[in-house]
Amino acid sequence: MTTTLDQDLTPYGGVEADADWAARVRELARKRDAVLLAHNYQVPEIQDIADFTGDSLALSRIAASSDASTIVFCGVHFMAETAKILAPEKTVLIPDARAGCSLADSITGAQLREWKSEHPGAVVVSYVNTTAEVKAETDICCTSSNAVDVVASIPADQEVLFLPDQFLGAHVKRVTGRENMHVWAGECHVHAGINGAELAAQAEENPDADLFIHPECGCATSALYLAGEGAVAPERVKILSTGDMVHAARDTKATSVLVATEIGMIHQLRKAAPEIDFRAVNDRASCRYMKMITPAALLRSLTEGADEVHVDPETASRARASVQRMIEIGQPGGGE
Ligand code: 13P
Ligand code: SF4
Repeated sequence: MTTTLDQDLTPYGGVEADADWAARVRELARKRDAVLLAHNYQVPEIQDIADFTGDSLALSRIAASSDASTIVFCGVHFMAETAKILAPEKTVLIPDARAGCSLADSITGAQLREWKSEHPGAVVVSYVNTTAEVKAETDICCTSSNAVDVVASIPADQEVLFLPDQFLGAHVKRVTGRENMHVWAGECHVHAGINGAELAAQAEENPDADLFIHPECGCATSALYLAGEGAVAPERVKILSTGDMVHAARDTKATSVLVATEIGMIHQLRKAAPEIDFRAVNDRASCRYMKMITPAALLRSLTEGADEVHVDPETASRARASVQRMIEIGQPGGGE
């Protein structure tokens, strides 16, 4: 699934997420023996109707262990594909198969094969935001919540190729102190757009706020710089996956939190800690692909059994080991 500029990405519309809609969705899901999974960046109505809302690691683990015969993945295409790789015997549906990911599109299988040929023997660690073809060329997948643990599990003398997100890669390199790690220069256009200048200005205006920062953000390095310079107390800067943000919201003593990630996250955070004032560092940081999973798209999906996700069995079987290792490493993700 690659996204092209000339593709029509107009979301399915015309359905209101009222009580009638919710009742029809629940009834259709029951009839299909379907579990509804929603990523933290989904619109609030979808998060609220799902059986589980969480981060990409938690949702992958639930997909692998669920008893339901159908998984309806309210997220983007690589997430649904990952569920299909882990549970090939299940029917996996995504409410709109056009919901791609610009980060996953930043490296192809052919590009990865060429990169590997330049570093024979290196261990390939791919972020879960990749296509099945790239996962099939990968040794271990990771998500933002276990990337550090995954890289730390690799013997120190082995070279690592980390892809495709350069900001997450820089974060992992910083935390593990690993020198023999090469990082692909990809980025997510939504997170890369949350920049250090915006963060610094808001941190100055809100000196007591915690900073929750997703490691895909362009501002992650700036946040640590601000902490290093004393502009923000170091213990207030938290680099977290979306699921870990929910855990941190429950644990923090702060009364306000600046959130640097896709804006869908704010809904889960407010539910977890209604007394805290959560503010988006960039309130335009909205992923158009995540927002394609509309109430209309979900209803259509459950009514028509669409869009079904298929992964070529040979590619899936090559990708499975790397994804399996991903779900085995690290703490429970948020949402489990
Ligand atoms: P999490 O793994 O933190 O849920 O982030 C996934 C992501 O970036 C999807 O865009
Ligand atoms: Fe991909 Fe970025 Fe959207 Fe996440 S927010 S799905 S990384 S484009």
